[in-house]
Amino acid sequence: MENHHVIPLITEEQISQRIEALAQEIAERAPQEIMIVSLLKGSFMFTADLIRALHRAEIRTQVDFLTLSSYGTGMASSGKVNIVNDLTDAVDGKYILIVDDILESGRTLDFARNLLHERGAQKVEITVLLEKPGKREAEIEADYIGFTIPDKFVVGYGLDYANYYRELPYVGVVAIP
Ligand code: IMP
Ligand code: MG
Repeated sequence: MENHHVIPLITEEQISQRIEALAQEIAERAPQEIMIVSLLKGSFMFTADLIRALHRAEIRTQVDFLTLSSYGTGMASSGKVNIVNDLTDAVDGKYILIVDDILESGRTLDFARNLLHERGAQKVEITVLLEKPGKREAEIEADYIGFTIPDKFVVGYGLDYANYYRELPYVGVVAIP
């Protein structure tokens, strides 16, 4: 792959401080035991850090993963959401916290929330690391937001461009030459 220039936007330290605060916010409102539905692939790193912060905030979690696709491999959303890999656990009667990397059009999270409600979840809340305002195409907002960012394509800390850059410990903007 060609080398893009990635300009740091949110540092590793800012991310970790914000996640501790988010876990405290969640702990103030959520029950002591919650089920995490982590949307892959983008949220694996956020999920791993968030559940450890929730542990420090004395919240016990069960974790399951759901892979949805709407984006393909490029920088523009295709619109239609598909289940690529389903959950393995039942969600009925449970308090669910959906964890996602970024809320943009909202179609992915809207799909996930509806699916969990159809399967009988007792309550569904949403946390996202990042949010781009003014881009919504579905009527949905997150209950807990890490950072609101400008309308730029970002990578790192789980987020990719063509499946690259997920490993960056910070979030950065891809500079297109
Ligand atoms: P939505 O369905 O349009 O809200 O898009 C959500 C999904 O699109 C996210 O879970 C990401 O996987 C992907 N996405 C949206 N914006 C970006 C970005 O700036 N960088 C990388 N992935 C993005
Ligand atoms: Mg994603």
